[in-house]
Amino acid sequence: MRLVLLGPPGAGKGTMARRFAKRFAIPHISTGEIFRSNIQSGTSLGCEVAELIRSGKLVPDKTTIELVRVRLGEPDVAGGYILDGFPRTIAQAEALETIARPDTVVNIVVDDATTIRRLAGRRIHPASSRTYHVDFAPPRSSGKDDVTGEALVQRPDDREEVIRERLEQYRRQTAVLVAHYRDLGRLVDLDGAPGPDTVFENLCDVVRARQG
Ligand code: AP5
Ligand code: MG
Repeated sequence: MRLVLLGPPGAGKGTMARRFAKRFAIPHISTGEIFRSNIQSGTSLGCEVAELIRSGKLVPDKTTIELVRVRLGEPDVAGGYILDGFPRTIAQAEALETIARPDTVVNIVVDDATTIRRLAGRRIHPASSRTYHVDFAPPRSSGKDDVTGEALVQRPDDREEVIRERLEQYRRQTAVLVAHYRDLGRLVDLDGAPGPDTVFENLCDVVRARQG
């Protein structure tokens, strides 16, 4: 199974991909998480992309495609993958066709108001990327990771002005992929508005239906 999750910032791509990867035992690959972990550990890639990510701009295609090419060449991906946050441009989608062609692309549909509410209340545990929401998915103890008890933080790109820029980048560069994959006959829309449990079960249903 080679699955891509599309959708605007805050649609729930990461939340759904993590659960899906666990249930179906396939690797979850999030370009955003790979970039953030490189920023955290101060690698040269992290230094290269930190300012772009902090300001809500996309990382150049060349860098992102190379990163994904390497990751998709690793042995654990032989049985499939769930990609979250890639592709984000037509050039990335075209590159993915030659690296490991996706069979199903799920477009998580949410409106802007929902997106903004979700991003504003999101908190993460940086070391593990575990994700919470102050209202919709609160940790057991306020402000602390359920597993380690360490402090939760807000992503630097979840500030209001950066959220606006990310939504703009999505509209300008990524939204076109919905029509692109629809034309290829590989796109399924998924209503991302209900709570996480419902969205997840619906995701499993649409993927099952597509895979036959
Ligand atoms: P990335 O990390 O991919 O960010 P994004 O696409 O903006 O998406 P998010 O991670 O913000 O949202 P999500 O859809 O994963 O939502 P989540 O599940 O967390 O990319 C970050 C940056 O890296 C980019 O801006 C760019 O600079 C760079 N980058 C990454 N990939 C790139 C690429 N391919 N090319 C170029 N640059 C790239 O959910 C959000 C919140 O809502 C959480 O709090 C969650 O608990 C809650 N929630 C989730 N689902 C529900 C639900 N159903 N009901 C209620 N609450 C929910
Ligand atoms: Mg995410």
